[in-house]
Amino acid sequence: MQVETHELSQDVLPLRAVHHVEIYCGNAKQSAYFYRQAFGFSLVGYLGPETGVRDRVSYALQQDKVRFVLTTPLLDDGIIPFLSRHGDSVRDIALETSDTELCFRTTVERGAKPVAEPHVIEDANGKVKVATVATYGDTVHTFVERLDYAGPFLPGFQSTPEDTLARPVGLKHIDHIVGNVDWNQMDQWVNFYVDVFGFSRFVSFDDNDISTQYSALHSTVVSNHSKWIKFPINEPAKGLKRSQIEEYITFHNGPGVQHVAIETDDIVETISRMRAQGVEFLDIPESYYSDLLDRVGPIDEDLEPLQKLNILVDRDDKGYMLQIFTKPVEDRPTLFIEIIQRKGAESFGKGNFKALFVSIEREQERRGNL
Ligand code: FE2
Repeated sequence: MQVETHELSQDVLPLRAVHHVEIYCGNAKQSAYFYRQAFGFSLVGYLGPETGVRDRVSYALQQDKVRFVLTTPLLDDGIIPFLSRHGDSVRDIALETSDTELCFRTTVERGAKPVAEPHVIEDANGKVKVATVATYGDTVHTFVERLDYAGPFLPGFQSTPEDTLARPVGLKHIDHIVGNVDWNQMDQWVNFYVDVFGFSRFVSFDDNDISTQYSALHSTVVSNHSKWIKFPINEPAKGLKRSQIEEYITFHNGPGVQHVAIETDDIVETISRMRAQGVEFLDIPESYYSDLLDRVGPIDEDLEPLQKLNILVDRDDKGYMLQIFTKPVEDRPTLFIEIIQRKGAESFGKGNFKALFVSIEREQERRGNL
């Protein structure tokens, strides 16, 4: 507890972690089935006409500490322009705090655009204080302060019976969330998180620009002091071929969340289950594995299942990590999910970028976007 207080005291804002990620989607009922059956989330809460909300439906999904909310509009409101512009996409990276008022007041004073003033939402299960500010593109951050709430997700959500459709795969918590911003906009948004949120540039092994002929992106990571909230920010860079970030910006019609990385403590088991449940991952060339151990040194895992499942490995000065990336989780080549298992490493997989880009470029070529 003392450690937590100490760490929080280093921060400008009393933020704990990502509370949930809200995805606006065209058909939340069907998307919920996909995230339950393929990714293993359980349905824990529902909000819609049956609960007195007229203009939208939301499904709250949870797996350990990872919460996704899938929201679809029913009547014309602000969600519909978002959907027609971006397709299914992350709207809200909600952040858990002990003081919503302070977070809202401080960030707005420092230049954040207010979206919703602090207000209390409540139902029979208790109260939560929320407020919302804008970030890159049409993405927002809602501050979530639980007052005395003891319900399934947030006030207004009706709890649901035990989910017999969910097929859990061992996802534990959100590790990082990556934003793609437009050409030459990275510094502006890094500065936004530094100046407005009081975050620090996360000094890691990935820190230098990643602009080989394969990658064509610049990336800088910002985080809060405890490092429970980590946001890498990417911008496209000139490469030999069209940048994957550029493809995202084109099809997303502007900046937005590129991927959500979720941690597991047994990636071989998690990915075996996810593949069996129909999740598609990027293919990695066989050559990646032929000299893997020369590049990363000894690891605890057997090489064979890693190669079979196409799991990547990278090492930094703190340890190593295993990671894998899904193909986009919607028809537009936009949002995807990363699964990561950290074994000491604090970085984000720079050593894998070359192998990844070869794979991503192959996919881009299939889409005619290279
Ligand atoms: Fe990542």
